[in-house]
Amino acid sequence: MRTLSACAARTESRPGAAARRAAAIIVAVVLACAGLTAAAQTGAASAGDEGKQIFLQGAQPSCAVCHTLADAGSTGNIGPNLDELKADATRVRRAVKEGIGNMPPFGATLSDAQIDAVSRYVARAAGGG
Ligand code: HEC
Repeated sequence: MRTLSACAARTESRPGAAARRAAAIIVAVVLACAGLTAAAQTGAASAGDEGKQIFLQGAQPSCAVCHTLADAGSTGNIGPNLDELKADATRVRRAVKEGIGNMPPFGATLSDAQIDAVSRYVARAAGGG
């Protein structure tokens, strides 16, 4: 009797567990979508934060690996020091989109909106306008 009821309990718990897993997946998907929407909205509201995020993490490899930019706390020295270069957004955009010298192009991995956000961020953070 005891074995039987334990079995019954296990059988009952299986669909429950599956449902919980399904629920967890749905929650994860919903959260991921909400996160994306929030990021898109933040981007529209303040390109600075999104641009900084792309500078530090979104771009692969990240700009921070190769460039020094005080506002982002980065100290890379493979490329020019962006605080000193003070490039305007148009110049940053060209370098990011097409690449320049040993810097790889990001035109295929970042969207135009992301390139625009990171370019405006770098120009503003470095005081290049
Ligand atoms: C793998 C290293 C590397 C990464 C990653 C990298 N850069 Fe560069 N970057 C360079 C190098 C090297 C140069 C100098 C190229 C030259 O003038 O020959 C450069 C040049 C630049 C310039 C100056 C362009 C000009 O007109 O003189 C800007 C602005 C710039 N990078 C911004 C960025 C931003 C923003 C990112 C991220 C989206 C980034 N870089 C990612 C290496 C890198």
